Amino acid sequence: MSNLCVIGLQWGDEAKGKLVDLMTERFDIVVRYQGGANAGHTVVDGDQTYKLHLVPSGILNQSVTNVVAPGVVLHPETLLGEIRGLQERGVDVANNLMLSERAHVVFPWHVEEDKISNTPEPGEESIGTTLRGIGPCYRDKVGRKHALRLGDLLRDDFAERVQQICQYKNRFLKEFGTEGGTLDAAEITAHYRELGQQLAPLVADTNHFLLDAVEQGKSVLFEGAQGALLDVDHGTYPYVTSSNSSGVGVPSGSGLPPRWIHKVIGVAKCYSTRVGGGPFPTELDNDIGEHIRQLGKEFGTTTGRPRRCGWFDAVAVRYTARLSGVDALSMMMLDVLSELEEIKICTAYKIDGKLVTDFPSHVDDLRDVEPVYESMPGWQQDVTGARSVDDLPENAVNYVRRISQLLGIPVEVISIGPDRVQTIFCEEAVSLVG
Ligand code: IMO
Ligand code: MG
Repeated sequence: MSNLCVIGLQWGDEAKGKLVDLMTERFDIVVRYQGGANAGHTVVDGDQTYKLHLVPSGILNQSVTNVVAPGVVLHPETLLGEIRGLQERGVDVANNLMLSERAHVVFPWHVEEDKISNTPEPGEESIGTTLRGIGPCYRDKVGRKHALRLGDLLRDDFAERVQQICQYKNRFLKEFGTEGGTLDAAEITAHYRELGQQLAPLVADTNHFLLDAVEQGKSVLFEGAQGALLDVDHGTYPYVTSSNSSGVGVPSGSGLPPRWIHKVIGVAKCYSTRVGGGPFPTELDNDIGEHIRQLGKEFGTTTGRPRRCGWFDAVAVRYTARLSGVDALSMMMLDVLSELEEIKICTAYKIDGKLVTDFPSHVDDLRDVEPVYESMPGWQQDVTGARSVDDLPENAVNYVRRISQLLGIPVEVISIGPDRVQTIFCEEAVSLVG
């Protein structure tokens, strides 16, 4: 049995949820292994649209076990809200959702701290986080002293731990005078205990579950959240999220060692988007950018913020595809480009007059790059009804093939709309050679 990872190769929002949902039926288990409710994964099933933040995108398939692994930071209220929403629409999770007792829990102080650190100093560009408490929760996890995991919510010393942490956090929050005011340890304890009780039937040691499963030949689909350019170690630091969102994060977050990863699919849009701050070399701050935003409905699933839009950046994606060990590409939202007369791809950067194809490690260098573009003719034809590569206009195929060539990776999937049927699984037709 072979296990597959689905990794976003840009700054998130690459339509990973659609791909995971489509692939789910071929797997026994789907695993979310990093990030938290900052993710917004959309799954469309007929006339129903599901927006998932913490629940893995395999949830609509009752025969698949969906695991939230130790590397995820979990906000219990968001998760319970999501579970309720699914149940109201007839999707039961009682038998196919499992939460790691090792997953760290997001508390109200994390959200307060996120607000504080996201407020920019004069002249500073804000990271523009999703304000879900993600960064502060990961910071506390690494700091160890003020962190609590899902398995801690129902333990005897929980009240005492919350008390200690609140004392410390209140000193910090008072200093910064946030709206959140003083944290009430007793209230938070009671509330989180109650949430812990509601989640208790789903909580398990997922490490042993997953190790047993793969050793018995069960197949696993790893669902990455965010995109590799937001990886805390390898992305556009500090304008990143706080976890390893590239392919390198799969073993650490899931608890399954690298030997159990057999294939990696890199998901990329046929253009670029970014939400929040930080450099974006191919950004289109003009009518074309606005056109892409409207057609691609490029507004955040989690925060509703308009996304910044731009041309496809082959320098950035070549880097993240290599970093993530990508075997095959899934190119999303090709339909959004259909009306354009001319489409550009960034093939190199110019830095101080020199051509560079390696993605710079420092954001200030990235801010200074001048993208070098290759121009391709558009196809100006609706592609949303295409069901095979042969149905696509020649210029559309050429565009996808050019991306494949520039990255040196075959394209296996092309998405031409949100619906499951608007997906083309391709053979060699758009592969790198040709
Ligand atoms: P999915 O899984 C797009 C961005 C935020 C911000 C930065 C840090 O839907 O692709 P955080 O709240 O994580 O501390 O914010 O990361 N960001 C995302 N952008 N899609 C996401 O998830 C994102 N998750 C975080 O906008 O710039
Ligand atoms: Mg999103």
